[in-house]
Amino acid sequence: MPRVLSCIQPTGSVHLGNYLGALVNWVSGQHDGNVYHGIVDLHALTVTESPQVLGNQTIELAAMLFAVGLDPNVATVFVQSHIHEHSELAWIMECTVSFGELSRMTQFKDKSAKREGEFISAGLFTYPALQAADILLYDADEVPVGEDQRQHIEITRDIAVRFNHRFGDTFVLPKAVHPKAGARVMDLQDPTSKMSKSATTDSGIIYMLDDNATIDKKFKRAVTDSDGVVIYDREKKPGVANLLDILAAATNTPVETLATKYTQYGPLKNDAGDAVVALLDPIRTRYHELMNDRGELARLLSIGNDRAREVAAQTLGRAHQAIGLLPRI
Ligand code: AMP
Ligand code: TRP
Repeated sequence: MPRVLSCIQPTGSVHLGNYLGALVNWVSGQHDGNVYHGIVDLHALTVTESPQVLGNQTIELAAMLFAVGLDPNVATVFVQSHIHEHSELAWIMECTVSFGELSRMTQFKDKSAKREGEFISAGLFTYPALQAADILLYDADEVPVGEDQRQHIEITRDIAVRFNHRFGDTFVLPKAVHPKAGARVMDLQDPTSKMSKSATTDSGIIYMLDDNATIDKKFKRAVTDSDGVVIYDREKKPGVANLLDILAAATNTPVETLATKYTQYGPLKNDAGDAVVALLDPIRTRYHELMNDRGELARLLSIGNDRAREVAAQTLGRAHQAIGLLPRI
């Protein structure tokens, strides 16, 4: 079984797009590989300055990952900052990558340009070295990422090749793979844009923690069009198509079957809202149960942390040995 690593930053609230587009596949895929899911809080630190925020966001994300169905006895869910080997290997990675290579990273160029006039941490620049450490520590064969992260996986390969060449075979070369395509969920108020936490208003976004009445209201107010006919056409009728896509994903029904069932927008909006409520209600209940039982949540997280630590410690040891650092005294 391939070893697969996915990482997610604990920033912002998880929404229906993240769930139907990615998390459902994490859950269904947990038995198909030896999967590791890191909550990468140290990466979020590159742009976080407020005290006491990151820890809460980390525990909330962990609770959500368990609530949606990741089983800590199957998938290894861990917190990056709890495994000190990430920071330690990151330094070695920084010494294996060049200034020029890091300067070519488009994510750094974009993010630093957006922060013009603000504080730009050196961490934002060396971020790919930490990401390389995340990946190489677990001997990951596959890293499912979107287009925006491909360059970071390429640089990780380059670093691994260079290290192996300099010091001897130590790291497994990872490859970027396309995550299994989930549903693409569009903003309910602006159905030509992806549902995204960076939207200007919350009214088109279904958050995992929205209560049932709020979900219902957001679906009722979803933007459609003035034709009044239910046809699945993403180009010409993005609002209606989005409702059909969401309903299809939430009920596991082909979109073509659903399109023929409706003649009016009202019932389609109602049913899409009801289906999402039925889908999210038990997840939200489980989430709150876990958040109210911090002992249990810590226990679940420590299962993954312990497993991750064991693998990471071995890999870091291998790297130290390959370099020939003086063994610990
Ligand atoms: P982000 O937090 O935006 O980086 O997204 C995390 C994951 O959720 C990525 O794998 C995205 O592909 C997925 N995702 C985010 N927004 C959507 C969306 N509106 N529809 C489908 N998938 C999404
Ligand atoms: N940089 C990734 C992002 O912004 C998050 C990430 C950190 C990551 N470490 C990783 C992704 C390791 C894959 C593997 O989404």
